[in-house]
This record gives sequence, structure tokens and C-alpha cells, in this order.
Amino acid sequence: MLFVASVYPQEAATLPHLKKQGTATQLIVHNTPLLMLGGELGNSSASDAKYMAPVWPQLKAMHLNTILMPVYWELIEPQEGQFDFALVDDLIASARKYDLNVVVLWFGSWKNSMSCYVPGWVKTNQTRFPRSRTQDGRAVEILTPFSDENRNADAKAFATLMKHLRVSDGEQNTVLMIQVENEIGMIPEAKDCCAEAKESFSRQVPAELIAYLSKNNNSLTDELRQAWNTAGMSNSGTWEQVFGKGLSTDEIFMAWHFAKYTNYVAQAGKHEYPLPMYVNAALIRPNYKPGQYPSAGPLPHLMDVWRAAAPHIDFLAPDIYFPNFAAWLGKYDRGGNAIFVPEVDRHQSVTNAFYALGRHNAMGYCPFSIESVENPEHSQFNKGYDVLRQLTPLILKHQGTGTMAGFLLDSAAQTAEIELGDYVFTVKHEHTWPYAPRSEGPTPRFGGLIIMTGKDEFYIAGSGVLVTFQSATRENVITGIASMEEGVFVNGTWVAGRRMNGDEDHQGRHLHLPGGEYGIQKIRLYTYR
Ligand code: DGJ
Repeated sequence: MLFVASVYPQEAATLPHLKKQGTATQLIVHNTPLLMLGGELGNSSASDAKYMAPVWPQLKAMHLNTILMPVYWELIEPQEGQFDFALVDDLIASARKYDLNVVVLWFGSWKNSMSCYVPGWVKTNQTRFPRSRTQDGRAVEILTPFSDENRNADAKAFATLMKHLRVSDGEQNTVLMIQVENEIGMIPEAKDCCAEAKESFSRQVPAELIAYLSKNNNSLTDELRQAWNTAGMSNSGTWEQVFGKGLSTDEIFMAWHFAKYTNYVAQAGKHEYPLPMYVNAALIRPNYKPGQYPSAGPLPHLMDVWRAAAPHIDFLAPDIYFPNFAAWLGKYDRGGNAIFVPEVDRHQSVTNAFYALGRHNAMGYCPFSIESVENPEHSQFNKGYDVLRQLTPLILKHQGTGTMAGFLLDSAAQTAEIELGDYVFTVKHEHTWPYAPRSEGPTPRFGGLIIMTGKDEFYIAGSGVLVTFQSATRENVITGIASMEEGVFVNGTWVAGRRMNGDEDHQGRHLHLPGGEYGIQKIRLYTYR
């Protein structure tokens, strides 16, 4: 397939696209920034419109505005060259009916490493569509990225899907953006050992990658810089000559080839309909080595390789199932990478979302298998997303401008110090206060965000925290609460509720957002001697 410049350049500016606001990257839809309070469907739910029928109202009950939904290669192209988009159209129509946006997940060549979603005519023809192989020569159910035939068949199906979306949704833009493939990664060994892969491994590292390394040496991830610098910063050579011998080099090699393949698929799709496109990563269990985890995916330590090989992929995103949410998200907030959480364990606290939006300027947050949440109308998403929905205009205005912060507290981190404008905020886990109610069991995760709307005026939202204040700029002054009120935003306008004083602010000592509920308080500070 030969790509020329996009055939629809005049549309590009009005289509959903990414835009920088200060340090943030925002998703712009119909010329307005959009925050995705999302959820991802379980893998098989979107294969049956009947199964989905009762799910839609549940999603609304949790205040979602966006659903992440797979489109399966095996279902849209059951016979080669014969496409069927009836299911896709049906689901998008339902999403519209429920006023939900859609992010399409392209389950093409790879889904959690494996090629389980490729159509039967691909699965059963291994001569034409070759597989990755282990060192001992066994085939695995993974299409090798070293086959043009594999890549072209995927790109053709994906481009046909994108063309269909342009025709059916180009005006309304219910579909906001696309995830290309799902959790790409090599297992059970770090390196593909099919004949084409072996041959490729013995060849020179592409000049394109070397040029990227030279240009960006100072900003490369530590792992990649170390590998390249330790092996002598060569400007040419085989993979082992340039990066040294070992699993780390095997992984760099595979990342380059996975990224090149995925870039080709994305480019084919964007040629038909240039929506923003990203890839997601399965993260690494502690102490696992390449091959033990899905290796070579868009992982933090391989970010540069993916960026060098895949310019048509707009950003890399983490699927966070491990408890150290903040640490993993932080690893993706580098080098201008746009922040989006396409998957997170739905049992983790929704205060993660406050943190992701407030601290890392995320475009969205999406718990996985969102339709499995029990009692949606009484769930944490119903309450937490309701508060975030109210705050959305304010969050979007402040993202990337240095006037917003997020915090996340649990047993590992019970205090956070945040400087914003003239003040330092000390945020403590509610359980550090002897008077706070608490239940038995592990320390819950609490958190929230702070938005500065004036020199002395702040909105603080979230759950389970106590906040105290100090001047950041003046010594020997005491910071007090001039006034504090709880309230809600109605269509972007603050509507004050109770004046929070007396026991509610511990007689002027702190702001308290009780655990188990989600709220917003507006506070004005002052200083005295
Ligand atoms: C991560 C994958 O991306 C999802 O499709 C799903 O398989 C979940 N893991 C299951 O936990």
C-alpha cells in the first residue's frame, strides 16, 4: 500500500484532534476540549448488540461520557475482502442514543500479545500469514511482525474500518479516537525466532533509529541511553553491536518491529480518516524479565523506540492494574506524551481519576469491564464521576497552566505537600486524624485535586482528605481560612451549599473532604501575624 498525503486535508482541523494547552495535551472535539470520563467494555460485550442493550443505561447511571469499545477484525471481515459493519453501526447508534462518545479499540493482529482476533481465513493459513516462533522452532498464536503479508492484511481491514467510520460518523464524531491493536507484546520469549526475524536481527540497526538516538541522547530513557552508551554509542552495526548482547537488546529489536508494523497500520487508517491514534501497554510485574511479561510493547523504558518507529501513533498509554497507580502513570508523563488511562482495575479507587486529571492533565480515565460494576447507581463512579463531570469546564481550563494539582494517598503515602500560587497545601489521609470515622481493613486510597481560581481562592475536590495551609512566599505569617463552603457546579456555575465552619473546618484549622463520599469545597485563604 502506498500512502499519499491525506485525501481529506480540509476536514482535518474540524475532526477530533489533539492540541497542546501549556504542558497538557487535550482532545478537541467540535472545536471544544473534551474530558473522557470513561470506561472500557469487557472483551466480548461489544460482539452482541442484544447483550449490550441493558448495559447502556447502566453506563449513564455512572455518569460516563465515553465508552471504549472493541471492533473485532474477525467479525468485520469474516471472509477476505467482504466487510460487515452492521454490528459496529448498531453499537455506535446506541452510544449516540445514550449520549456517549466512543473510543474504538482495534482488535486486529494482536490482543494481549496473541492473535486470537484475526479472522479464520488468516488463522488457518500459516503459510501466507506466518507466526512468531520460539527458539526451538514452535509456532505461537502470534502473527509475526516480520511479515508484510500479515501487516498488509491488517492495514487493509483497518483502513476499510476507518473509511467506513469517516462516511458514517465523519460529521457527528461519536467516535473520538482509536486504539490501534491491544497490549502488543512478545511472549513467552523476548524475541521472535521465525526465519524472517532471525534474518532481520543479523542486519544493521536502521539508520532512522540511530539518527533518533543521536538527536535525543540527552532525553532518552535511562535504560535505552545506558544500553546505547555502554555499547559505545555506535553509529552503525547489528542490534547486538549497537546495544550489546542480551534480553534488553532482544526487546529493543522487537519493539522497533512491532512499532513499525503498528505505525503502518495506523498510517493506513489515518489516510482514510485521520483520528487521533494511540497504543496501550500491559505493564511489568516486579522482577519480571523480557519474555516473562509481554515484551517490547509501548512500555515506559521503550518509549523512545516506539516514538522513533511510529510517528503516526500519537501517544502511548498504560493499562494500570497494579496498586502503584501514581508511579506507573508518572512514567508515561514524559517528553510531551499525552496522558490517557485506557484501562485501570475498576476496583481501584476512583480518586485515581481526580489525581490523573489534576496532577497529570489526563485526557481521560477508563476502568476496565465497566459494565461489571455492581449497583452502578450506587457505585463510586456514580459519585466520583458526578463530581468530575461538574468540574470538567474548570479542569479543562486549568490543565497545563500550572494552576492545578492532584494528590493520591494510601498506606504507602499518607501525606502530600503541594505548592500552588502563594500557598503550600499539606494534604493528609483522613485516617491520620483521630476523629475521622474509619472502618476495619486495609487503608483505603483517598485523593483529589486542587484548582486555583484566584490569588487566594481555590476549589478542592475529592474524598477522604484533610488539607491545611501555609504561605509559600512569606515567612512568619500564619495562613487562615477566610471562608469555606461546599457546593456544586450547575452548568459550570458554582452554587454554594453549606458554609463549612465550626466542626466542619475544625474551628478554622483545616478543610475536610470525608471518605466514602465525593465533594467539592471552595475556600478563600488569608494570612495574619
Ligand atoms: C488487559 C487487556 O487489555 C484487556 O483487554 C483485558 O484482557 C484485561 N487485561 C483483563 O484484565
